Amino acid sequence: MNNANTSLREKNIVFIGFMGVGKTTVGKLVAEKLYRNFIDIDKKIEEKYNMPIPQIFEKVGEKAFREEEKNLVKQYCSQKLKVISLGGGAFLQEEIRNVCLDNSIVFALDISWDSWKNRLHMLIDSRPVLQNKSAAEIEELFYKRQESYSYHHSKIFTDNLEAEEVADYIIEALKTSWELYD
Ligand code: S3P
Repeated sequence: MNNANTSLREKNIVFIGFMGVGKTTVGKLVAEKLYRNFIDIDKKIEEKYNMPIPQIFEKVGEKAFREEEKNLVKQYCSQKLKVISLGGGAFLQEEIRNVCLDNSIVFALDISWDSWKNRLHMLIDSRPVLQNKSAAEIEELFYKRQESYSYHHSKIFTDNLEAEEVADYIIEALKTSWELYD
């Protein structure tokens, strides 16, 4: 499972961060710019169950969702040259954190609560963990989750940045580290 011998240049690039921060959008852009395959773990889970995530939570349950999430992350993180976007709850699982940190370059996309709360209306219907919660409870979840995003190799604060700018910043950072350390 461990591909620690993979050169820095070939390591997967993994995106973590709270729901709706832009992991999929930025991940796709980075993958395009580096000519790599893009893997969206949530999408892979939906394909496996052949239903959208809210329905998976409802019919199969969150426990099975989290198990599948773990298995898929392990599967893709043991490969190389992938760009992988994780669901916002994935890094709550220690096994997922470890496999990603050992085998990939992990970028945490960060956002302030003030910016994020304006996106809530676009996310609520497709994110079961946000449903049936008051605004105060969602804010609490936002801050509680931050600890899990502190496990990373690099963090980018995305407030006031377009996805394209975030992706370009990441590409520059990667190129610099490849030149310096590989
Ligand atoms: C979740 C985040 C979602 C998805 C699922 C659970 C979470 O992914 O995995 O709804 O617990 O934070 P995004 O972060 O892509 O929204």
